[in-house]
Amino acid sequence: MEKKELLYEGKAKRVYGTDEKDLVIQEFKDDATAFNGEKKGTIVGKGVVNNKITSILFKLLEENGVHTHLVEVLDDRNMLIKKVEIVKLEVIIRNIAAGSFSKRYGVEEGVVFDSPTIEFSYKEDALGDPLLNDYHALALKLATKEEIEKIKNYAFKINEILKKYFDDRNVILVDFKLEFGRTSDGEIILADEISPDTCRFWDKKTKEKLDKDRFRRNLGNVESAYKEMLKRLS
Ligand code: C5P
Repeated sequence: MEKKELLYEGKAKRVYGTDEKDLVIQEFKDDATAFNGEKKGTIVGKGVVNNKITSILFKLLEENGVHTHLVEVLDDRNMLIKKVEIVKLEVIIRNIAAGSFSKRYGVEEGVVFDSPTIEFSYKEDALGDPLLNDYHALALKLATKEEIEKIKNYAFKINEILKKYFDDRNVILVDFKLEFGRTSDGEIILADEISPDTCRFWDKKTKEKLDKDRFRRNLGNVESAYKEMLKRLS
């Protein structure tokens, strides 16, 4: 499948048209940003790792009944995906306190929750992706009530599948972000990516961070952490 016009360029990915009306190509870049674009850099080889990890995880989710946008992996950095209209909600599931949760609520990083939490933020860079609840999402017409229910059910199901999968590979799934899209038939499916850019992964024994927090917090060994995650999944 050949790449046609550039349709969209985000912080970590580009999306290109194809000859097929309902199919587009998602290309993973090495560019890294944090704190809503305030910190910028490059993580060499990240695009290749994230393309591979996303494809492994999306295939796993498909096998477990979660519909995703993945059609096929084209090469190291490119995957063919279904064209969707992205629902402008970032869906965050947390199993353990970290990041903005720890900061916002004054909870020490590493506190394990009795049950997972879910939060939504409005996917709007210009506003700094503010937190919102279901009622705000409805008021802003980001999704219907039925779609929001579907997204929540999917998100918790994905968490159960991934938690077990990573645990078997000696990785703790601390938290992660999901994005969903609407197909031309109006179906809600999982879109975007699941990778060390969008998840917090800690080594089960040492609690070493194996994700983008190494870049955000200048912890060093960023590239090797991404590679280590791919190794554990391969
Ligand atoms: O920063 P915060 O603690 O809210 O992040 C929660 C999870 O969501 C982390 O795994 C982070 O990598 C992910 N996230 C993301 N994109 C954003 C915000 C958070 O992938 N814009």
